[in-house]
Amino acid sequence: MTRMRLLTGTGIALLLIGGAMQAYHPKLESPPVTAEIQVPDEVKQILRQRCYSCHSNETKLPWYDNLAPAYWIVRSDVREGREHVNFSTIGAKPAAVQRGTLFESVNLIQLGSMPLPRYLAVHRDAGVTPDELVTLRHYLETPPVQPAAPAPAAAAETQFQHWIASNGTPIQVQPEWNGVPFLPEYKNWKPVSSTERWDNHTMRQIFGNDIALEAIADGKIDNWPDGTVFAKVAWLQQPDGKGGITTGAFQQVELMIKDSKKYASTEGWGWGRWRGDDLKPYGKDAAFQNECISCHEPVAHSDHVYTMPIGGAQ
Ligand code: HEC
Ligand code: HEC
Repeated sequence: MTRMRLLTGTGIALLLIGGAMQAYHPKLESPPVTAEIQVPDEVKQILRQRCYSCHSNETKLPWYDNLAPAYWIVRSDVREGREHVNFSTIGAKPAAVQRGTLFESVNLIQLGSMPLPRYLAVHRDAGVTPDELVTLRHYLETPPVQPAAPAPAAAAETQFQHWIASNGTPIQVQPEWNGVPFLPEYKNWKPVSSTERWDNHTMRQIFGNDIALEAIADGKIDNWPDGTVFAKVAWLQQPDGKGGITTGAFQQVELMIKDSKKYASTEGWGWGRWRGDDLKPYGKDAAFQNECISCHEPVAHSDHVYTMPIGGAQ
């Protein structure tokens, strides 16, 4: 009898606590959708179904997520998720930024980091299916370069050897539209890292000047000293027809020049991109740099630099 009463007492206490928890139900705001991501319908559908609950202003929660304490966790995930990526507003950013975000998204899905694993543990069917992943990859992927016919392959090779050998550039290169100068000497700098992109089939090499290398050695990589310069060079990947891949046509070189006073209005960096064999400045006017800055914004905490030099991150 006493035990029974004790149990009922505990039950009532739990109910009361549960009720009190539901009473704390801070609001989850839903700001208007101002500029949805610009992608074909089949891509948007996947994002809507798998990602919009945390990465849009159109969050729809199932009833069980509306109960505390699940609600508190989901609400905080949604708020943080929107801060990182918001598919309801990203449409206002340049096309390259939307594409870059999607590229990063697909990489995170492939790694199993998105949707958040702790969310998938509770929402079993919320993950991206293999078919959906194929659709996303297919949208981003440009057709691969065909094994080169001998003539263009030889031309690419000559171009590459020329690039390796030339000290300074034989052609007159114009500064960027924002006035940032081209620095031919980047070819003599040390490589800091190299990356590939499966979507546009490019190989990229990042070079740093002496000041960059010194800063890496001194571990000053979250606020690069004035005078630091990075160069990023991209070549198309060129299958050699025997299963190997070499550098194909030269695509572009990009520079980031640190000068916290001169370039104060563009996050302390001068941005430049020169394309093609004749190194033509990119864009139509100085506004091109907004594209650079908004895509480098996610790494604002490391002074807008993506590259984590090997051994320099401690
Ligand atoms: C349950 C909420 C939730 C869902 C669902 C979710 N995300 Fe996220 N996402 C987050 C949170 C929280 C962060 C920020 C913290 C982190 O990176 O872990 C984030 C970060 C990201 C980032 C930025 C990472 C960075 O380094 O800035 C990308 C890109 C991303 N998510 C893509 C996706 C995609 C694509 C989907 C759907 C397939 C998805 N997310 C589904 C919560 C979610
Ligand atoms: C689509 C997103 C995106 C855009 C747009 C973009 N970048 Fe980057 N950039 C990256 C990423 C990601 C890296 C890291 C290396 C890699 O993955 O190739 C990087 C690396 C670099 C680096 C090497 C230093 C570093 O941060 O790691 C330079 C230099 C650079 N970018 C210059 C530019 C310039 C100049 C522009 C504009 C003309 C630009 N970027 C536009 C995403 C972008």
